[in-house]
Amino acid sequence: MARLALPLLTPRLALRDFLADDLPAVRRYALDPRVLAHVLQEMKSEEDLTRHFSAVLNARAHRPRRAYELAVIVRRSGALIGTCELTRTATGTAEIGYLLARRYWGRGYGTEVATALRDAAFRDLGAVRLRALIAIDNEASRRVLVKAGLRWAALRRRHTHAKGRFWDCDEYELLRSDWLGAAPPAPAAGGSR
Ligand SMILES: CC(C)(COP(=O)(O)OP(=O)(O)OC[C@H]1O[C@@H](n2cnc3c(N)ncnc32)[C@H](O)[C@@H]1OP(=O)(O)O)[C@@H](O)C(=O)NCCC(=O)NCCS
Repeated sequence: MARLALPLLTPRLALRDFLADDLPAVRRYALDPRVLAHVLQEMKSEEDLTRHFSAVLNARAHRPRRAYELAVIVRRSGALIGTCELTRTATGTAEIGYLLARRYWGRGYGTEVATALRDAAFRDLGAVRLRALIAIDNEASRRVLVKAGLRWAALRRRHTHAKGRFWDCDEYELLRSDWLGAAPPAPAAGGSR
């Protein structure tokens, strides 16, 4: 089964597997209530975070690997500024997600991450469809998806149960054929860009 060629490089960022030493940097943003406000995942306490982080480290060794939860690194400074995710299903759909520390919002990093995950999903994983789900009031993430070329596909009412309630979600998607038609595939990552 195809694998991601890591790290994924963008003009300003590197997306790489997490290392055990990254936990303190992750702690600085991963429990921030404003970062988590629209995230459809329970992450209430240090214990939740530590447990989740261990699972992420262990998942790196899974074969075949279906889930990539990656650290977002600013190449110039080496700062770890967020987390992103690319998951694929058995049916050829890939799903993306991302979150960034608050002080790095509004600089185009979110779009750079989503675009890199989009290209890797089609180029490296051979996905036929890319999908992202957002809470219906997550306007920043909606802009990121649109700027990365995804299109609104459906309203999923009461799609996810998290944090004690159901969430209405918007589903965005991009088909491989549309991606191929929009731009020539980016060159392979893994340090060659
Ligand atoms: C979503 C997130 C990753 C975006 O990162 P970012 O680096 O700020 O994204 P970008 O700078 O590439 O683009 C953000 C866009 O959203 C817009 N935006 C931000 N807040 C907005 C709001 N409340 N309403 C409308 N647009 C908004 C910005 O103006 C920008 O659009 P523009 O370039 O057209 O001006 C970041 O806000 C985040 O980490 N949020 C918390 C976690 C989260 O919600 N993750 C997504 C879960 S699906």
